[in-house]
Amino acid sequence: MKDLFEKIYADKGPLGKWADKAEGYFVFPKLEGPISNRMKFQGKEVITWSINDYLGLANHPEVRKVDAEAGKKYGSAYPMGARMMSGHTDMHEQLQNELAAFVKKEAAYLLNFGYQGMVSTVDALVSKDDVIVYDVDAHACIIDGVRLHAGKRFTYRHNDMESIEKNLMRATKMAEKTGGGILLISEGVFGMRGEQGKLKEIVALKEKYNFRLFVDDAHGFGTLGKTGAGAGEEQGVQDQIDVYFATFAKSLASTGAFIAADQEIIDYLKYNLRSQMFAKSLQMQLVEGALKRLDMLRTMPELKDKLWENVNALQNGLRESGFDIGTTQSCVTPVYLKGSIPEAMALVKDLRENHGIFCSIVVYPVIPKGLILLRLIPTASHTLKDVEETLVAFSAIREKLETGVYKRLTAAMAAEMGV
Ligand SMILES: Cc1ncc(COP(=O)(O)O)c(C=O)c1O
Repeated sequence: MKDLFEKIYADKGPLGKWADKAEGYFVFPKLEGPISNRMKFQGKEVITWSINDYLGLANHPEVRKVDAEAGKKYGSAYPMGARMMSGHTDMHEQLQNELAAFVKKEAAYLLNFGYQGMVSTVDALVSKDDVIVYDVDAHACIIDGVRLHAGKRFTYRHNDMESIEKNLMRATKMAEKTGGGILLISEGVFGMRGEQGKLKEIVALKEKYNFRLFVDDAHGFGTLGKTGAGAGEEQGVQDQIDVYFATFAKSLASTGAFIAADQEIIDYLKYNLRSQMFAKSLQMQLVEGALKRLDMLRTMPELKDKLWENVNALQNGLRESGFDIGTTQSCVTPVYLKGSIPEAMALVKDLRENHGIFCSIVVYPVIPKGLILLRLIPTASHTLKDVEETLVAFSAIREKLETGVYKRLTAAMAAEMGV
């Protein structure tokens, strides 16, 4: 018989196998200093384009004050126990009520972490006779939720209405056989490419098909819509989203998340979300902190305005300089370049070391071979000077990429290393 750990010693997994080359730099990098538009990486100042602090709240003095005071008042333990047992408070209820009102739903329920909450919500909404239809580019937490489902599931091509309808047809046939219902899951904004889920078109299909719509709006909440209530508000279909999800980890710059829906659905979910029923309640410091952040989101529209000033300056600047930024419809700003993985690594190193630009990099197998995706997240704390410097740096690295500088550099490095 094999030792269970044998496979772990032999294979560290699709990402883990790159640890020797990538750890500390491309993965698990350590950004230091207060969260802001400029932080330190390996002792040098960099413009940070990789933090989802959309509204610049993470280090806002008013937020820091409330966080610190709540920490002093409650410590980090309170309340102890799961919500259902001993971890329930007036403040949790107040935050839920305010969140529900903000996203225009009857009720909301807090989740300790978005990821686990999403997994459990998918799990709780369906039983084995039900059918799930979801986008092939769905976030890992949606996929993990679907993995728990004992019944049928169909994926549709990313944001492709023809594929959505085809799969709804298949799902309808299946559900008629099993006697179940259909749950369609989309994101409000897809976090890699920045496209909004086609919520308006999906909702229109409710005329023809009987399904419920669940939207993960992690990137839309706080950034889209007139009031910042997200992609549903932006597309004018918030009332047609049956279950709405957002995390505090992005616009609210904290930890925690929530789901919002009709009262009866939330009442059901709060008794059936396993990751919340059997886990400690969201700690008070986070609850008070989220109330403060939500209040700022509601009363300081200038934060979202500044965010969008930066988004527009960056995205227009990149387009005008001839960069391919795909089909983003949100703050998420992808820049697509052509090159190999070693070239991508040399390019990112150049950006960080010589231009002081820190952004995320995505390569194959997440995107097709030969493509490099640099992902930039503008925030309200960036300045137009940050944007200008970044545009200059991007033009410089593109020229080096196109004239083969990184190719020669990586070939020389490979020869030196004897690989
Ligand atoms: C689309 C999406 N859904 C869910 C999550 C998970 O949220 P959390 O960080 O609160 O666990 C994330 C990442 O934060 C996300 O990008």
